Parts: sequence; C-alpha cells; structure tokens
Amino acid sequence: MMRIDIATLFPDMCEQVLAESIIGRAEKKGAVETHCHQIRDYTLNRQKQTDDYPYGGGPGKVLYAQPVKDCCLHVIGECEAAGRPRPHIVFLTAAGKTYTEEDAKRLAACDSLLLVCGHYEGIDERVIEDMADEEISIGDYVLTGGELAALVVADSVLRLQPGVLASPEGYEKESYWDGLLEYPQYTRPEEWEGRKVPEVLLSGNHKKIEEWRKEQSLERTRKRRPDLYEKIRREQ
Ligand code: ADE
Repeated sequence: MMRIDIATLFPDMCEQVLAESIIGRAEKKGAVETHCHQIRDYTLNRQKQTDDYPYGGGPGKVLYAQPVKDCCLHVIGECEAAGRPRPHIVFLTAAGKTYTEEDAKRLAACDSLLLVCGHYEGIDERVIEDMADEEISIGDYVLTGGELAALVVADSVLRLQPGVLASPEGYEKESYWDGLLEYPQYTRPEEWEGRKVPEVLLSGNHKKIEEWRKEQSLERTRKRRPDLYEKIRREQ
C-alpha cells in the first residue's frame, strides 16, 4: 500500500484536501496512507523563523535549508521505522520539469513518496541538491507555494493505486484512449433545457457508441490540443 508524505508550512490545508472525496475515502479504507508535516517544527531558532532574505538581493524570501532537511530526515526515519524503503523525494517548484500523466504513472510505482513544498520566492538551492531526487512543476504558471502542486501530484498518483477508484475501469478506460482528450458525457434527463442527449448514446448499440466516442475524442484533441494530436499521429 502506497504512502505519501507532504512537507509544508501549511499541513492543515493539505490534510483537509486529502481527507475529502475519493482520496479521503480510500485512506479510511486503508487503500493508501498520507501524512503532512510542518516544516516550521524543525526550525532551531527561538522565533521559529523559516525563511530569510536572498543573498544577492531581490524580492521575497527564501526557505532555509536546515528545517527542510531535518523535516525530510524525520520522514525518512518514519518510513524506515514502518519497514518501508527510503521515500522518493520530489520538490515542487516553478523551476521543475513539467508534470504529465506519464510522471504520475512512474511515481505511482513508488512504495513511498515525499513531496516537499516551497513557499515564498523559493527554497535554498543547497537542500534541493542534497535531498531531491527530482524537481517538478505542475505547469507554466506561478503559484504562491508548492502546496497546490503537491496536492495535484498526490491526487493524480493516489488515484492510480489499487482500491482507490470504484472500478479499475476508471483508469483502464483512459489507457485505451491514451493521450486523447475525453469524449463528452451525459446523464439523466434525456432532455435538459431544450438540449437532447446525442441519439447514438440511447441506441444501445455498443459498437456504434464506442465509434462515436472515439471520433469525439479525436475531434476534440485535434481542435483543442493540436500538439497532442500530432504526437499521437506520429506514434501511429
Ligand atoms: N511553486 C510555484 N509555482 C509552482 C508550479 N507551477 N508548480 C510547482 N510548484 C510551484
């Protein structure tokens, strides 16, 4: 069973998100395990200060290396005590490599994962060099901290674990459509505010339905994500 730890200045925020919905239910069932850790608890100064001005000047503040490392070492110790291997360590920063579903699948094979969130203008580079196995960005935009990014990674990795989704088809289906955007979905009623559900979906003809869905996926991908569409065409 997979374990994910998050090292952050906002552990309550992360815990609250992970306790909800599908991931929350999966953890209650014992299908996955998550823990959030307060980096501030590992500071050694009297004011529990976690950050400071950047050498060389510039805006914002930079997270100290020491509390980040000590928090990571604590998590490594907890994993060892639980009979687990050393966790794979990922730092979430805007300067990381861009995250994709391929990374989610790769990280989903880890026994345990430690996600470290930067805040403010960054993290002292030396603790990244010392502790990180990799550095990930969730996209080309800037967040105020790594928490939302860590939660995106945790969610996308945990949903791939056995026993998390109601039906394993939940993700197997998607691998059939690998790399394509999802087709449109409809539920009751058959007509809503004058808009009808496409006829083919009511036909009961499963072969026709599959064909329609594939066509919709292809067409959406071509229109909305020409980059993905070209990649798939080249791979075929
Ligand atoms: N921290 C700030 N922006 C980020 C991003 N896009 N991804 C991961 N961590 C971040």
